[in-house]
Amino acid sequence: MSKLIVTGGQRLAGRVRAGGRKNSALAILPATLLSDGPSVIENLPDIQDVQVYFDILRSLGVRVETRPANGGEAPRGVIDPSGLVWRVPSDELAKRLRASYYLLGVLLARYGRAEVPFPGGCDIGSRPIDQHIKGFTALGAKVTVEHGVIKAEARRLVGAPVYLDVVSVGATINIMLAATRAEGTTVIENAAKEPHVVDLANYLNAAGAQVKGAGTDIIKITGVTGLKGVTHSLIPDEIEAATYMIAAAATCGDVIVENVIPKHLEAVSAKLQETGTTVEENGDALRVVGNGRPRPVTVKTLPYPGFPTDAQQQMTAFLSVASGTSIISETIFEGRFKHVDELKRMGTNITVEGRTAIVQGVEKLTGAAVRATDLRAGAALVIAGLMARGETEISEIEHIDRGYERAVEKLKSIGASLERVP
Ligand code: UD1
Repeated sequence: MSKLIVTGGQRLAGRVRAGGRKNSALAILPATLLSDGPSVIENLPDIQDVQVYFDILRSLGVRVETRPANGGEAPRGVIDPSGLVWRVPSDELAKRLRASYYLLGVLLARYGRAEVPFPGGCDIGSRPIDQHIKGFTALGAKVTVEHGVIKAEARRLVGAPVYLDVVSVGATINIMLAATRAEGTTVIENAAKEPHVVDLANYLNAAGAQVKGAGTDIIKITGVTGLKGVTHSLIPDEIEAATYMIAAAATCGDVIVENVIPKHLEAVSAKLQETGTTVEENGDALRVVGNGRPRPVTVKTLPYPGFPTDAQQQMTAFLSVASGTSIISETIFEGRFKHVDELKRMGTNITVEGRTAIVQGVEKLTGAAVRATDLRAGAALVIAGLMARGETEISEIEHIDRGYERAVEKLKSIGASLERVP
């Protein structure tokens, strides 16, 4: 168990590069098992969740070779599924992240049956999987849950219409994966429109699948009998970029975040501008200049293209020093305010009522011993620590390592003062 010691008061300045998108990697790595040949995945984020996924793939007989980050080049992985065997992934590995449940769609498509222990991931709400089950059932599978293991079985998987009752990224992706090798056409209505859904569709189509409409709320997948391995480069991680953008604003800094697709960050850029922060677009980079205490704003998390729930906690930290009261509504995950209790130790004035946080801005934060309760809570506490007077000691930073590549190194390169200690 390591801790982070953050010394506040430094103004961030310089250039920082966003890595490949975590949530694309965690959808496309399992998707490589739908192919018969090896795929090369480029621009992989150098994060713990990707390493855990590699361990899961290896435990299923898949050969995984990686080239670590080398100078300016991002890591890449060669995933060869030719040795894939049907197996139940271990409970220990499956519980270490949310995206282990994509093996349900993949193994169901390849073998007509799949058994995967209940997934883990951030503790931010109840996170049901009924929409995944609804989709698999529509395609002809029988799905049961026994002894903590989700079991899906189908003699034939046949394409069908699926209407999602809630916009779910996970269910959209899982149904896409299963439908890719089903007979006939599946139509997902009320599908998630996140750019990583499009990234997955681009990988699948390059491999020979027939997926149309990704990025809209109706996705049509016509099943094919097999896919080939291909080379695919992941899109940039918009949440990592958003975190550095908010950190720049929070420290009155001047930071250029490189390797971004500005369109994917429009909701975050617009909200930062409302707070009085300057955000300038320049090709695949965004320059963020903080201009003192933020103006209070209203934030409501929504599916893409709305404000991302994955950036809500970082924004809450920033707004805790606003010159008035901000209202933050979390409409996606009911339990995503665990960071607030930790922020209170640093002198914030935040009240949570149900799914709403009322953030009364205070003039200053003071460093304290706090705990990263989940991935983005950890990021929020780092931002609070950068703004605070004195030292902030953040424990349980393994959560941060799950989703941020070389966070300490990157933050230091733009002037932050922080150390990882055992
Ligand atoms: C994914 C992302 C996560 C992000 C979230 C929303 C991955 C690995 N994780 O999580 O970082 O915060 O999208 O952008 O990509 N729901 C149901 N039934 C279901 C499935 C979901 O009711 O069967 C609900 C959830 O409780 C939640 C909402 O739908 O309220 C959205 O969840 P979903 O989009 O599925 O999130 P994840 O895929 O778990």
